[in-house]
Amino acid sequence: MTGHLLGRAALAATLLVAAPAAAAPLAAVLPVPAAVTPGTGTFRVENGATIVVPGRDAAARNAAARAIEIVARTRGLRLRVADRGAGAIRFVRAGKATAGDEHYRLDVTPAGIRITAASDAGLFYGAMTLAQLLAPDARFGDAVAVPAIVIDDRPRFAWRGVMLDVARHMQPVAAIERVIDMMAQHKLNKLQLHLTDDQGWRIEIKRYPELTRKGAWRASTTPNDGAPPGRYGGFYTQDQLRALVAYAAARAVTIVPEIDLPGHAQAAIAAYPEIGVLGDRPPVSGDWGINPYLFGTNARSLTFVRNVLDELMAIFPSPLIHIGGDEALKDQWQASATVQAQMRALGIADEQRLQSWFIGRLGDHLARHDRRLIGWDEILEGGLPASASVMSWRGEAGAIEAANMGHDVVLSPGPVLYLDNLQSAHGDEPPGRLKIQTLADVYAYDPLPAAIAPARAQHVLGAQANLWAEYMVTPEQREHALFPRLAALAELAWSPKASRDWPAFLTRLDPQLDRYRRQGIADADSAFAVDFAVTGDVGAALRAKRVTVALTRQAAYDTIRYTTDGSAPTATSPAYATSLTVAPGSVIRATTIAPDGRAFAAPRRFDAAPAALLTRTSAALPPCTTTPGILLRLPLSPDATAGPAHSMNIFDSCWRNPDAPLDQVSAISVTIGRLPRNFALRQPQREQVVWRYNPTRFGTLLIHAATAPARCSPRCRCPIPPSRRTASRSTRRWHRRPRRRTCA
Ligand code: ACM
Repeated sequence: MTGHLLGRAALAATLLVAAPAAAAPLAAVLPVPAAVTPGTGTFRVENGATIVVPGRDAAARNAAARAIEIVARTRGLRLRVADRGAGAIRFVRAGKATAGDEHYRLDVTPAGIRITAASDAGLFYGAMTLAQLLAPDARFGDAVAVPAIVIDDRPRFAWRGVMLDVARHMQPVAAIERVIDMMAQHKLNKLQLHLTDDQGWRIEIKRYPELTRKGAWRASTTPNDGAPPGRYGGFYTQDQLRALVAYAAARAVTIVPEIDLPGHAQAAIAAYPEIGVLGDRPPVSGDWGINPYLFGTNARSLTFVRNVLDELMAIFPSPLIHIGGDEALKDQWQASATVQAQMRALGIADEQRLQSWFIGRLGDHLARHDRRLIGWDEILEGGLPASASVMSWRGEAGAIEAANMGHDVVLSPGPVLYLDNLQSAHGDEPPGRLKIQTLADVYAYDPLPAAIAPARAQHVLGAQANLWAEYMVTPEQREHALFPRLAALAELAWSPKASRDWPAFLTRLDPQLDRYRRQGIADADSAFAVDFAVTGDVGAALRAKRVTVALTRQAAYDTIRYTTDGSAPTATSPAYATSLTVAPGSVIRATTIAPDGRAFAAPRRFDAAPAALLTRTSAALPPCTTTPGILLRLPLSPDATAGPAHSMNIFDSCWRNPDAPLDQVSAISVTIGRLPRNFALRQPQREQVVWRYNPTRFGTLLIHAATAPARCSPRCRCPIPPSRRTASRSTRRWHRRPRRRTCA
């Protein structure tokens, strides 16, 4: 049984209205360029202006076309491309591009705009900067007077990555394309696709059709568009992936495919048990967590993986191929007499080294095809193949060790660059992990750890944000997690470290939020949303009939304005300065709002009615124990696309209400949702699960003060009724019509 209080879930949409004065040129450009020199005067770009590109220069024409698309969406101006004649804007090729060159120069003078670059990527990024200069504020359809300026720009790091987990929850191709569009606009350039995991195999492999016939589908009670009844899943055909690779390449994004090995292999083994260790056929997993199924290490399994990699390489031109390597529990290898005999024959001392040997064979295979492997930092254990690169996720230690050994590394440490962590404690955040990483936390991260010797710093390829998707089903939930935190990632990965400046970043984010809105991105308003906290004791406030409330938000930008008369706050509503004192029964509505009326967050509401003051949702109830545990915000079913989300420690279904005004309480009303326990916990995690007093079939709710009594009297325990949910009734329906039970 899992019981907890229900949260009120309302996904907040960013609401931006009206038009501000023209922003300074630098404020329009995010990530902030390496060097900017202001000039004098302006150049006006009108509707119908022409971008002139060099003749027969397909890459320049593509860069212009992409900028034209974006400017149409974000500003409503229709620009044209031509390869001869005069034009307001010129793309110029100059110099000889070297490998990895992404430099461009953008000159705005009163006579026109010129973008100069040697490389395709440089011209593309010049075009992306141009698109931002032409949409510097919330105006739409208006000509833009671009202030004279020289931008001389190149990235700090070559790897500016995002990982999307499409294995746990499938994403429509169009949703991935939208992420690629936005990556390009943020000058991010590597998209890692986590294509396989225990819960689903998502890439068509023609030689092994069962991988997608069986391995792409898991049992699920949640309806899923296009899936057979009772199943969740899907996969990408090779044609779809080839088209996606081309789509990304046109936006200077390389797709790095990941096949996770030797663990996270249950879906593959569900399709082909003979490539596993024990020969049994598990189902495709419906559990999150770490499952025990491993690829076998014999010739048959290796041939299978090599054949898969051959088809993968034929689709994805990326020089680096990601082979996973994370969280491979060695239990099955330890238990297998065949694997143990193979280890003895090879003279391999332990299973860590066996993993290293296994990955080394795959590295050799990739090298024969002129590719290199990259893997999660566990590939360091047991020895790293010479040409391997390491993606550091368990903090920075893996990156430090590997870089100091002379291997290339990408910094993608949890929790800060794990964007499945929520970005605020607001009760309206969607599902995710609860090691909250705010926009400011991401912005403060530097991907060059001091412990990497300066002589080895060139091995730091860059940074990557990872979006694991156990708890993120829909594209909108993912966009909420990605944006605007990818704007912060863009600055830490592209811009010079010396230009890092949080208040200045917020001024650049301001017009970027308008560009998100124009493009229909479901970005989070968490950083600007107002939070309310009662000052002092709620019981005392109710007795005194005066409630003092502090209003806060993460990003100190513009002004908090509020109302107490039921209306929506506007630019002329009172500005919040210090705490507010209101009578019980009042309602405060507040948001961050600019002088021109653009709100940076949906208004949040604080209800000072006595019943509301005495109500807590799970998001506001801290867990009973702080360690150990896994704190998650979960939907009511694993594949739910909508509905409420609930915060809990999955090791211990217990919440505290530290400020409960017990002297005001005559009855307690609890609304409970029943969550599936679908977590594959291993030792020692299993021992950390707290099993509390649980004497009834459907569980019992215990409510007591302070520490748990050894035996709970009838006054503090309340058996939970069975859920009304049946095969034909959805969880949400049950959720809407809770059964009532009154306990004495
Ligand atoms: C990982 O988060 N297991 C790489």
